[in-house]
Amino acid sequence: MNQLIYDFLRVTESAAIASLPWIGSGNKVEADRAATNSMRSILNQVEMDGIVVIGEGEIDEAPMLYIGEKVGTGTGKQIDIAVDPIDGTTSTSKGQNDAIAVIAAAPKGALLHAPDMYMKKIATGPKAAGKINIDAPLVDNLYVVAKASGKEIHELTVIIQDRDRHQDMINTVRDLGAKTYLFEDGDVIPAISTCIESLQVDLFIGIGGAPEGVLAAVGIKGLGGEMQARLLPRSEEEHQRCRNMGIEDINQVLTHDQLVSAKDCVFVATGITSNMLLKGIKREPNKIITHSIMINGNDQKLRCTESVHPMSDEQIFFTKKSS
Ligand code: FBP
Repeated sequence: MNQLIYDFLRVTESAAIASLPWIGSGNKVEADRAATNSMRSILNQVEMDGIVVIGEGEIDEAPMLYIGEKVGTGTGKQIDIAVDPIDGTTSTSKGQNDAIAVIAAAPKGALLHAPDMYMKKIATGPKAAGKINIDAPLVDNLYVVAKASGKEIHELTVIIQDRDRHQDMINTVRDLGAKTYLFEDGDVIPAISTCIESLQVDLFIGIGGAPEGVLAAVGIKGLGGEMQARLLPRSEEEHQRCRNMGIEDINQVLTHDQLVSAKDCVFVATGITSNMLLKGIKREPNKIITHSIMINGNDQKLRCTESVHPMSDEQIFFTKKSS
């Protein structure tokens, strides 16, 4: 997996660059289409026998990067691929913070095949890894995280997506005197933020997309934290989708090892617009600058990189026209 990390960097950078003309355009469909198109074409140049297990949707609803699509040159290692060409399509179209292009990968069979539906998620960094329990009341989780981190409850910070469905959680945290960081869109980086000590985030909790959950689980695994989840199908059709993907007990807690079973996993994300960890894509005369993070589960390291892509205004315009 190590050797592929720079190939995956090219993949997320290309998706972010393709989305650039659409930042603030009000058109999230075209932004997503451009990023997906570009991500897929670079992914297909990577020497691997890859299969998309987390993608843009199922085969009947997504023409590109659908679940089950073979990607790569077809030679080399057999790899499970999870992608989200844009996590934060609304933020991209509105020109707001927190949009990224993201990929995660692990050896074949190591990533959960998760349908596109809601998932309850809880995540924490290395200090409290092994101590959290998605089934326990939030208050109990806050106490174990505080103890493991050597903090008082009121010193904790919990990151939660700003949604009505999370209001009870937000109230619980605040009632205990702890802090909530609320974010609008894109829950992959906030989940991973629990593993980066300088960001001072102790716990991530909430309900969001299952595909984003698997992506975050890889980054968190690579940094020694812990994530647990539970799928939340809301209709018979969503129940059926779970069964089709081999998930029989829909109510089961998905442990971190069930979300991603291999330590040999990689996670790469490029900023489209800025977030707590990454600067957004920047356009200068004749060049585009991107910032990315790479997480390698083997050495448990987070690497940050800035890339300069020489590019003329005409090329950027062409990117928009041709996407
Ligand atoms: P999209 O980029 O697909 O719009 O997803 C953004 C996102 O914020 C995810 O990161 C999160 O898991 C999910 O949407 C939450 O869903 P909702 O917007 O329905 O609350």
